[in-house]
Amino acid sequence: MIKFLIVLLTIVCLLIVAFVAWFMVLKTNGHCPLCAMKRVFRARTLTINVDELPDYDEGMALTPPMGWSSWNTFRNHIDQELIEGIADALVSSGLADAGYQYVNLDDCWQSSMRDADGKLQGDLRTFSDGIPTLIKRINAKGLKVGLYSSNGTLTCEDMPASLGNELLDARTFASWGCEFLKYDFCHHHSLSTSCPPIEMLELNKEGVNDFIKLTPDRAEYTGRAKTIQMKDLPTGQAIGFISHGSGTATLKATVPTGGEYVLTIVYAKDLSLKPQYLQVIVNGELHEVSFPKGVGFSDNGRVQLKVKLNDGQNTFVLQNPVATFVDSSFIEYQRMGKALKQATKEWAQFTGQEEKPIVYSICEWGHAKPWLWGAKAGNMWRTTHDIFANWKSINLIYNHSIKKYAAARIGAYNDPDMLEVGNGKLTEDENIAHFSLWCMMAAPLMLGNDVRKLLDGNGNPVTNNSTLKILTNKQLIAIDQDALCKPAKRLSTAGGVDILARPLSNGDVALCLFNKKGSNRNARFDLNELKKDEYLNFANVDSFEIHDLWTDERTVTSNLNIALPKHSVKVYRVKSV
Ligand code: GLA
Repeated sequence: MIKFLIVLLTIVCLLIVAFVAWFMVLKTNGHCPLCAMKRVFRARTLTINVDELPDYDEGMALTPPMGWSSWNTFRNHIDQELIEGIADALVSSGLADAGYQYVNLDDCWQSSMRDADGKLQGDLRTFSDGIPTLIKRINAKGLKVGLYSSNGTLTCEDMPASLGNELLDARTFASWGCEFLKYDFCHHHSLSTSCPPIEMLELNKEGVNDFIKLTPDRAEYTGRAKTIQMKDLPTGQAIGFISHGSGTATLKATVPTGGEYVLTIVYAKDLSLKPQYLQVIVNGELHEVSFPKGVGFSDNGRVQLKVKLNDGQNTFVLQNPVATFVDSSFIEYQRMGKALKQATKEWAQFTGQEEKPIVYSICEWGHAKPWLWGAKAGNMWRTTHDIFANWKSINLIYNHSIKKYAAARIGAYNDPDMLEVGNGKLTEDENIAHFSLWCMMAAPLMLGNDVRKLLDGNGNPVTNNSTLKILTNKQLIAIDQDALCKPAKRLSTAGGVDILARPLSNGDVALCLFNKKGSNRNARFDLNELKKDEYLNFANVDSFEIHDLWTDERTVTSNLNIALPKHSVKVYRVKSV
């Protein structure tokens, strides 16, 4: 027993010593250990204030995007003939007319090799005519093309992806005429929450070995940021405590003539397991800096940037606002979104043609709570992991996504993933429920089935095909595409039946009664309840006309009492009369 206590005590002492050593090392290296500790307790929060930022959308996705994606059915087996065949089928089946306009190539369109200029290119065999040619052909059919990449070093199928090449890839996509980008999360590297102490900034014009020095004693600080003493550095001091969003340092420099300058950041080298991160905001323009991990022989190192300076005074703000992985995801997704906007604008200027904006689809699987920041970074964000063509998957994704209704608005949508209607062994009721729920949630409607199967031998639509009927239900599509873009709110969930409602732009309300369970249920609902919910903003009347959007029947009533078979829905457009 005594032996055990001695061992325990020794372990506790060692842990305390290790903790104190860690604390002191961080402190003397200007890293704010307290902020690092706080971070552990708020790991899943967004600490960056995004409220003041404008929404990403600039009118490019005024209603949830609709189209087709290759992933759910074809996975890694895609080629140009297949994609063109799909585009043709979208047109001849009537799906294109119903609103499905994007033909999205998911993972595996790329070659493993970038071209001689470092640009992504299509697979050299399966897309042998090249992606730009394929896009032109599909555009000629009246459809738009979307592409896929990942916010990582590789895609989920281990193909080349865009982390570190955001602007180059965005420029490539824009020059090809791509109009939608799904940006995945595989092989992702989150940004470090720490930044090494900055000994000084140096500014020179390229080719001129005469420079201006900006030293810590000239900095103005916010938060915990401050000048720290570092005896190993030649100047003996550095800017510290800007890690973990703990503060900012602002330096000012006056130059006689503006233009492009080289900014050298001299930093203290310290042990870091991953590249450390700094933002340098020069006259309001963001530059991101990654400091290499590892230790060299010297006490300090340097990284360089090219920056634009004005005649006279210039301001340099140094900060690392990343306190959590949620902050990191926001910044890394926002980076690609900005690159896409810059690239489409540049391309339009270069060609003199109208700008073709790229709808930006964030596919981060809900890890970093993208509903908190997605509207500021892109047009839509996946709420969960991948969908599969079975009831469990659909129900799970619905249950999670419906709770996020308040995050969506015009140009910014929760994305519960692409449709599985017509795939797997879903029953007709399940297909109808899946489609209805996605429409109620104002979800992007991306078909995931082989739409060529909806045509007969002569290439005409099979009019009594159940999948085609579901996917082209105009009344339901009108709910999904309603101009208010307000997703359904769950009004109640009891006995396996959910009641959902969403306000519509003409003052109507879309109402959905949904039996989630594997056996029949009875659902009752008093329509007067709709008047009580502020979100629905429904007229204060006593009489309601309900239009069943699957049977097309209209009835005037104020009470519903309905039998719902397992996994089925009833969807009504409710009017006050
Ligand atoms: C991830 C995405 C899917 C699909 C695959 C492609 O799993 O969530 O939607 O794009 O990658 O590899």
